[in-house]
Amino acid sequence: MKVKSTFFCSNCGSESPKWIGKCPSCNEWNTYHEEVIEKKTSHEEKSAVWKDHKMEKPFPKKLDEVSSLTAKRINTLDGELNRVLGGGLVYGSIILVGGQPGIGKSTLMLQLALNQGSKVLYVSGEESEEQIKMRADRIGRNNSSCYIYTDVNVSNILKEANKLQPDIIIIDSIQTLVSPYIESTPGSISQVRECTGELQRYAKITNIPIFVIGHITKEGGIAGPKLLEHIVDVVLQFEGDNHYAYRILRTIKNRFGSTDEIGIYAMDTQGLREISNPSELLISPDDDRLSGSAIAASIEGLRPLLLETQALVSPAIYGTPQRSATGFDLRRLSMLLAVLEKRCGLAYGQNDVFLNIAGGIKVADPSIDLAVVAALISSLQDIHISKKICFAGEVGLSGEIRPVSRVDQRIQEAGRLGFDTIYISKYKSDVLAKKNYQVEVRMLSRIDDLLREVFA
Ligand code: TYD
Ligand code: MG
Repeated sequence: MKVKSTFFCSNCGSESPKWIGKCPSCNEWNTYHEEVIEKKTSHEEKSAVWKDHKMEKPFPKKLDEVSSLTAKRINTLDGELNRVLGGGLVYGSIILVGGQPGIGKSTLMLQLALNQGSKVLYVSGEESEEQIKMRADRIGRNNSSCYIYTDVNVSNILKEANKLQPDIIIIDSIQTLVSPYIESTPGSISQVRECTGELQRYAKITNIPIFVIGHITKEGGIAGPKLLEHIVDVVLQFEGDNHYAYRILRTIKNRFGSTDEIGIYAMDTQGLREISNPSELLISPDDDRLSGSAIAASIEGLRPLLLETQALVSPAIYGTPQRSATGFDLRRLSMLLAVLEKRCGLAYGQNDVFLNIAGGIKVADPSIDLAVVAALISSLQDIHISKKICFAGEVGLSGEIRPVSRVDQRIQEAGRLGFDTIYISKYKSDVLAKKNYQVEVRMLSRIDDLLREVFA
C-alpha cells in the first residue's frame, strides 16, 4: 500500500505532484491544496467494484444495436422540473442540483421521490431517517416504494442500489460521500471527483438516472472543482431570496436540452408548490398609481414572462450620484441612461438611479430595455404608467427601438393576461399589425415616440 499526497487546484480540480502558485490549466493563483490520498487501488482492484455489482463491463457496440431507451424520458410529474430538464428525465443521466443551504434542495428532491409511482432510492448523508420522515410528513405525500438509506460510502450505496434496482437515485449530498479507495476527507476535491465519477459510471451502465445535490460556495459556485460540472450531464441551480417565497430552478448546463429554462416554485408550509403562471405573481397590484414602474413582456426559455421593472430616480445628496441595479446588468443601465440623456435631453446626471426587477428575478433578455427606459422616465417625471400596458423592445445606442425575438408569443401572453396595450418595435413588424390580437399592439421606432405616446 502506497501512501501518496497530491496537490489539487480548488478551482478546476487539476492535479500536481508538488505545490505550484499558479494553476497551469485555469490560470488561478494560490488555489493548490494538499490532499493525502491512499492509493490502494490499482486499476484491477477498481474493476473489482464492477464484479461486486455483477455488472457487465462495457464493450464496443454497433450504434444500430444500441437500444433507444435513452431517447425516452421519464416524466417526473413536476411540470417545472420537467421543463428545466428539457422535457423530462433522461435515462442514465446524472443531474447536479446546486444551491445555498436552506434554499430547499432536499425538499425538492424528496418531493420528487414522493411524487413518483416508481421505486426511488433517497440516499442521505446529511440527515437521519427520522428527520427525512418528518419532512415527508410535512410535505404530506406518500410513495410506498420510496426507500431511504443513510450512508456515505459510495461502494455501499452502489451495492444497495444494485440489490434494490430503483428507477431513480437521489444523493443528498455529494460533499458527504466518501469513496473507500481514497483517504482524503469528505468534501475534498479528490473525494468529490472520485465519488461523482463512480456515480456517473454507475448511471451510464445501469441506465438509472441519478440526482446529486451539491452545496454552493460563498462565491456562488458549486463547491468542489469546476470539473464536477464537466462530469455531470445537467447542472441545475436552485436559487431564491430569503425575503421572497419564490424559488427559481435554473439550468446552467444541459446535455439534453436548452439552458434558458427556468422553473418557478413557491415555498409553502407544505413543501414546494409549482407556479405555472408566474406573471400574475410577479406583478404588483395597481392600486396606488405610483410612478417608476413598467411591465416588460419578457421570455425565459420557452415561456413568456411578464415582469415588473421598477426605477427610482432621486436627487443625489452626496457628491457622486449612485447607480444601482438588482436583477439587471449595471453597465446596461448606464448605457440606457446615457441614451436617454443624449437622445431625449433628460437629465439623470445629478440623480441617484436605482433599478430593480421585482420578485428577485435576474434577466438577461434584452427585450426588457424598453420597459426599463419607460420606468426610468416615469420616475424622473413622476408620471404613472398604467399596469395594463406592457413593453417589449431592445434599445439601441442611437435611441432606436429594435425588434426582439418571438414577439408574437409575447403579444399573445399579454393578451391572455388581460393587458390593454403592448408597445413593440416598428421594425420587422408589418406582419403582426395585420393579426387579430386580444391586445392593442402599438409600434415605436425611437425613444422619442415612447415619450410622445406614453408620457404626453
Ligand atoms: P431544505 O430542503 O432543507 O434546504 P436545503 O436542502 O437546500 O438545505 O429546506 C429547508 C427550508 O425550507 C427550511 O428553512 C424550512 C423550509 N420549508 C418550508 O418552508 N416548508 C416546507 O414544507 C418544508 C419541507 C421546508
Ligand atoms: Mg438539505
